[in-house]
Amino acid sequence: MELRVKRAPRIDLEITVPGDKSISHRAVIIAALSNGACTLQGFLPSEDCMHTVNAMRALGIKIEQPEPTTLIVHGKKRVLSAPKNEINCGNSGTTMRLLAGLLAGQTFESRLVADAGLARRPMDRVIAPLSEMGANIVAEGPDQTAPLRVGGASLRGIHYRPSVASAQVKGTLLLAGLFARGKTTVEELLPTRNHMEKMFNYFLVRTATEEAGSVTVFGDQVPESRDFAIPGDISSAAFWLVAAAAQRRGHLLIRHVGLNDTRTALLGVLLRMGAQVREAVEDVDQLEPRGIVEVTGFPLKGTVIQGREVPRLIDELPILSVAGALANGRTVIRQAGELRVKETDRIAAIAHNLRTMGGQVGELNDGLEISGPAPLRGAQVASFGDHRIAMAFAIAGLFAEGETVVQDAECIRESYPGFETMLEEFTNPKRMQVSTPVIGSLTPTAPEQG
Ligand code: S3P
Repeated sequence: MELRVKRAPRIDLEITVPGDKSISHRAVIIAALSNGACTLQGFLPSEDCMHTVNAMRALGIKIEQPEPTTLIVHGKKRVLSAPKNEINCGNSGTTMRLLAGLLAGQTFESRLVADAGLARRPMDRVIAPLSEMGANIVAEGPDQTAPLRVGGASLRGIHYRPSVASAQVKGTLLLAGLFARGKTTVEELLPTRNHMEKMFNYFLVRTATEEAGSVTVFGDQVPESRDFAIPGDISSAAFWLVAAAAQRRGHLLIRHVGLNDTRTALLGVLLRMGAQVREAVEDVDQLEPRGIVEVTGFPLKGTVIQGREVPRLIDELPILSVAGALANGRTVIRQAGELRVKETDRIAAIAHNLRTMGGQVGELNDGLEISGPAPLRGAQVASFGDHRIAMAFAIAGLFAEGETVVQDAECIRESYPGFETMLEEFTNPKRMQVSTPVIGSLTPTAPEQG
């Protein structure tokens, strides 16, 4: 599928975005381990999350889906059954890594398979610590890559310091820790998204923070079944927020979006770049804050993104690179080498596509240096099979002279079904709605140091 994009008229919209991907995966898994039925509202019915749903079904969990965004997960008190077939994780790294943790402590063996893109991504980051916990986990691919065979061992808790800042690794070990003897502690290099911890607490699974930067889970606990409403995904909102921020007098209001502060670093960056950003938390009932974000566009200026900020906006770096190309001066992204092992090598993909559209960009080992503002020109750009690259360059197309064609854009369905329809709203002036400012301003923050 191709996505054809033309320059946007003035943006003045009020929208919502689909459910949070990270929270959707975790909610399904924890609900499945709980002691009863849990209704999950606001679930993200994207391809990635459906791989997690189907995996849990293959492990004997009944999951109803009365409507696309509602799931009723019938938890079976941590009892899972051996899958009849291999479990297909598709392109979803979160599914594969979290399941590796979940399955490591089961009495049966499972085989996790991946599509060609996921099969290239590193799995040693979960294989090494799970092996240390006593897991039988074997990578069948070259250099410790998928398919993975896992299970049939009894686990012991460990204290582990991952060498990468990764919420997936943390989540994998915490899930394995639920099925391990004793306690399992993950000490993070830098703070990453804390949805697993929050979700555990919400489902009354005991965790502890013994020292800042570490989280501990105690084995042998059964999550208490509860209903949960998943907020909108700030990483999906990011595409539209940047579009409005980069357009002089652009205005956008997004409601019911997740505002967990391990995920909102993008807002601080847009402020630093000169946009007006307002945020209001409306609801923290279920531990995951959610609320309104409002952005007004101004001519943007370049900024530096590095250090502690990076894990808190890791998925937003493709779209922030596009913002950098539209901004005045230099935007530098550093200490973001993890981008090289996402759905594609995002550093190379961003550099390639920005250059194709007339941007000035230098590739660094661990980031990018972008000089702007570039008069972007419409071009054919590749998705590299990566949903966030496809969406970021669709947004770049809103600012380009002439038509932009994003090739192989079907990968967008992995995280954002409905993106194309929303893109229509941004390019079709007749459907523009006028929204009113409703909330107080944030103040700009300085770039964070390593
Ligand atoms: C995710 C964590 C991030 C992110 C991915 C989802 C998660 O990966 O890029 O899209 O749900 O835990 P890493 O934690 O490996 O950086």
